[in-house]
Amino acid sequence: MSTSEYARPDARVISPPDPATMRAVLGHFCTGVAVITGHDGTRPHGFACQSVTSVSLDPPYVSFCPAHTSTSWPLIRRGGKVCINVLAVDQRSICAKFATPGADKFADVSWAPGENGCPVLDGALASIEADVEFEHVAGDHGIVVARVTGLHAHTDRHPLLFYRGGYGGITVHD
Ligand SMILES: Cc1cc2nc3c(=O)[nH]c(=O)nc-3n(C[C@H](O)[C@H](O)[C@H](O)COP(=O)(O)O)c2cc1C
Repeated sequence: MSTSEYARPDARVISPPDPATMRAVLGHFCTGVAVITGHDGTRPHGFACQSVTSVSLDPPYVSFCPAHTSTSWPLIRRGGKVCINVLAVDQRSICAKFATPGADKFADVSWAPGENGCPVLDGALASIEADVEFEHVAGDHGIVVARVTGLHAHTDRHPLLFYRGGYGGITVHD
């Protein structure tokens, strides 16, 4: 399916929904970008992640979806705790770094341990600390549900957005 086909006002996705079409059409759902961090007791780990969702207020649950191919998630899982660092608009290079497997992701990145010991990245828009409670298998990804233990936000910063494979920001009108 070409870009013009799925961009038509009357466009329909014709089955089967192959991976390229899934990526292209689901890419219209604009999201923020986060870096999920954790610590295995020896060193910090993290990966860029857009699949963060607020699930429940009481109890306070969030979720995110690590790919089975993620090399850092199994190491983060060992610690049982995460920090979801919501990236600010000027943190595109941080996003790129944490989306590169095998890289020394924390080199040249300023961070400090949060209350649960997981890395809080300097300059992040918000940080959500949580304990991992459930993990479900869902195709080629997992769905992790974590109980929130700490919340911090910087209301003077603006979010990095991910839309159709590209990045942008928003202007906030009060
Ligand atoms: C904007 C953006 C969003 C991403 N969202 C996810 C996601 O929700 N889940 C996931 O597993 N990987 C996601 N990735 C891909 C991972 O960051 C990437 O595969 C990374 O290399 C994984 O690193 P690791 O192998 O060290 O875990 C995303 C990448 C980008 C650039």
